Amino acid sequence: MKSIKKAVFPVAGMGTRFLPATKANPKEMLPVVDKPLIQYAAEEAVAAGVDTLIFVTGRNKRSIEDHFDTAYELEKELEERDKVKMLKVVREILPPEVNCVFIRQSEALGLGHAVLCARPVVGDEPFAVILADDLLTSDDKPILSQMVEVYDFHKCPVLGVQEVPMEDVHQYGIVDAKLSGDRTYDVAGMVEKPSQEDAPSNLAVVGRYILPAKIFDLLETQERGAGNEIQLTDAIARLLSSQRVLAYSFEGKRFDCGSKLGYLQAQVEFALAHEEVSEDFRQYLLSLDLGHALPQMKSASG
Ligand code: G1P
Repeated sequence: MKSIKKAVFPVAGMGTRFLPATKANPKEMLPVVDKPLIQYAAEEAVAAGVDTLIFVTGRNKRSIEDHFDTAYELEKELEERDKVKMLKVVREILPPEVNCVFIRQSEALGLGHAVLCARPVVGDEPFAVILADDLLTSDDKPILSQMVEVYDFHKCPVLGVQEVPMEDVHQYGIVDAKLSGDRTYDVAGMVEKPSQEDAPSNLAVVGRYILPAKIFDLLETQERGAGNEIQLTDAIARLLSSQRVLAYSFEGKRFDCGSKLGYLQAQVEFALAHEEVSEDFRQYLLSLDLGHALPQMKSASG
């Protein structure tokens, strides 16, 4: 039996770094080549055995619900036009046995608060949290599947981590951790968005968590932390006094699609790996005279 059956996707954030693209559309619906970020995240969860996707949404997030819902008119039209391949794509966004639940986070009080909103649906089981703007890929097993294996073996919470440059530690939850096995670390402490001086290491949590239901009790009483928000990191730090927590340095690559540069890097690499466009796109990149591309673009846009 699968040990982690529920995944929480906090998707209520405003996506201010991508304005104006995110003025009326959620950042999680930004596509990388032809799939929205949230779908990559959902597929990663489903591959790990999750059958209930819990989206904690906010204003302007209706299109996420529509994306995972049946699109009758579209399907009918594709059927009539005999677009068999596209019909399959639209119908198979998620396997039929997977359920989606949408919960509204009415106040933007932070990631910890968003996760707490999922409590009525998660109940008393361990669950995953996936931040869709961290797009993770692997040549081997998807990252959440790797983490579920670690969870199944050790039976304790697992945080997906990656080394980041010291100058970037202020953007992340940073763990104080000691290597204790193959790619796994025992976590001794955790700080949200520390300065370089205060950072216990450069191991950053990157948008993948496997947590016990006990975290909800801690979130209920969690005081506001960095950015005056209720931080998941702070609740995990408190969890450490009663529970072993592991950090797992996953095998794979991360694209920070919450930043423009990371998002563009994802586009390029996913396009180069995409069966339909990879060869033409590669040829196009090779044909670019990068020294001249910039002035041309400037004149094109203004
Ligand atoms: C959140 C978490 C942080 C984590 C990061 C990963 O921060 O609070 O601990 O390291 O995601 O992307 P945010 O990027 O929402 O500010």
